[in-house]
Amino acid sequence: MSTYNRHFVSDMQTIRERARDRMEQGAVIGDDQQTETVLALLDEALATEIICTLRYKNHYFTAEGVLAEAAKAEFLEHAREEQAHADQIAERITQLGGTPDLDPSTLIQRGHAKYGSAESLHEMIREDLEAERVAIQVYREMIRYIGDKDPTTRRMLEGILEQEEEHADDMAGLLEDGRIEAAAS
Ligand SMILES: [Fe+2]
Ligand SMILES: [Fe+2]
Repeated sequence: MSTYNRHFVSDMQTIRERARDRMEQGAVIGDDQQTETVLALLDEALATEIICTLRYKNHYFTAEGVLAEAAKAEFLEHAREEQAHADQIAERITQLGGTPDLDPSTLIQRGHAKYGSAESLHEMIREDLEAERVAIQVYREMIRYIGDKDPTTRRMLEGILEQEEEHADDMAGLLEDGRIEAAAS
C-alpha cells in the first residue's frame, strides 16, 4: 500500500471510531433524547453522502485514459446514487423535526468520509472503495443502534446500505482489472 493510501485508510479509521463513540454515548441516554441522537447520526450520514457525491463527481470529471472509461461510468452512477441518498436523509431529518445542515464549511468535520486527493485512476478507485467500506460499517452500526427505536429511519438506512454494498463491489471489481493495477505500478 502506498503512503498516500495508508494516510487515507488511517484517517478513515479515526473517523469511524468517532462515529462509534457517538453511538455508545447515545445508547446510555434516555428515550426523550433518542430522536436527538438519531438526528445527530443522520446529520453525519447526510454530510457523508454529500462528500461522497462530490468525490465521485471529481473522479468522474478528472479520470483520463482508455482504462478510465468503465470506471467513469461507475463514478457517475455512484455520484447520482449518493446524491439520492443525501436527499432521502435530508427528507427524513425534516420529518423528524430537524433541519438538514448543508453548510459546506463544516461538511468534512461532520461526515464519515474524506474528499480525497487521488490523481491516478488506481488511487481514485482505492479511495472510493475505502470510503464505501467505512460507510458500510457505519451504516451497519447505525442500523443496529436504531433497532426498533425508529423503524422508518432503520428501513431507509437498510436500503442505502444495500446500495453502498453494491458500490463497494463495483469498486472492488474495477480493482480486479489487472490493467489498472499494472498502470499504477
Ligand atoms: Fe450513499
Ligand atoms: Fe456509496
